[in-house]
Amino acid sequence: MKPRTLAAAIAFSLASAGALAASVEERINGQCATCHGPQGQAASPIFPSLAGQNREYLAKQLQDFKAGRRQSETMTPQVADLTDAEITALAAWFSERPAKQHRVADEDLLAVGRYIYRKGNTWSGVPACADCHGADGHGTTTLPRLAGQNSRYLVMQLKEFNQRTRTNDNQAMHLVASRLTEMEAKAVADYLSQMP
Ligand code: HEC
Ligand code: HEC
Repeated sequence: MKPRTLAAAIAFSLASAGALAASVEERINGQCATCHGPQGQAASPIFPSLAGQNREYLAKQLQDFKAGRRQSETMTPQVADLTDAEITALAAWFSERPAKQHRVADEDLLAVGRYIYRKGNTWSGVPACADCHGADGHGTTTLPRLAGQNSRYLVMQLKEFNQRTRTNDNQAMHLVASRLTEMEAKAVADYLSQMP
């Protein structure tokens, strides 16, 4: 490439990187923040916090909403016109925000939740959540972080996995959720919400 064309190419790619950053910032502030909070810490406990969530998991969920693999009346219209580059940038931005940590008052319920998280329930065949989501609840590149998530959102998702209304990749979690009692689901969700 001749120096002049190279300089033009660099100028062009810098301009398009700037345009991408601007469009992503507009999306976050004008769109996502309404429900997921300006820093990715959700405004209402029924919405998931995205702050500190794993980047690959976030990008995959956005792609799944867009392709209709994960069906959601709320999220489908939000992602309809997102480009792949915007999805990658949004996932990176939210993953870099600090995660939230909630307070839970009921110590007894917390102890039940901790037991389920670490050991499962061998009597009913619930596997230990920690086996897949990690001892610290931070997940892996493909597994979601659960630590600090809103308890109500977690309970709702467990219900959706059980009923298979969470439509993408639900095999592993359907088995888990179908064996949890309502009390165990609430206990483990509360326990997770206060994990750092
Ligand atoms: C009107 C409220 C609303 C807006 C605006 C919104 N979301 Fe959501 N979002 C939700 C709800 C509700 C869910 C849970 C979806 C479900 O399970 O049905 C969700 C789920 C998600 C998830 C999956 C999280 C997880 O832990 O699995 C991601 C990622 C996400 N939203 C990203 C975004 C991005 C990025 C934007 C902006 C472009 C956005 N959302 C705008 C309400 C909203
Ligand atoms: C065998 C591995 C495995 C075990 C054990 C497991 N999970 Fe999961 N879990 C997954 C996978 C895989 C996903 C992500 C599915 C996807 O990619 O859409 C997931 C997703 C979730 C989600 C959705 C998070 C979000 O942000 O929307 C919740 C909530 C959850 N798991 C809770 C639990 C709880 C609570 C337990 C223990 C009672 C548990 N999991 C045990 C594999 C597991």
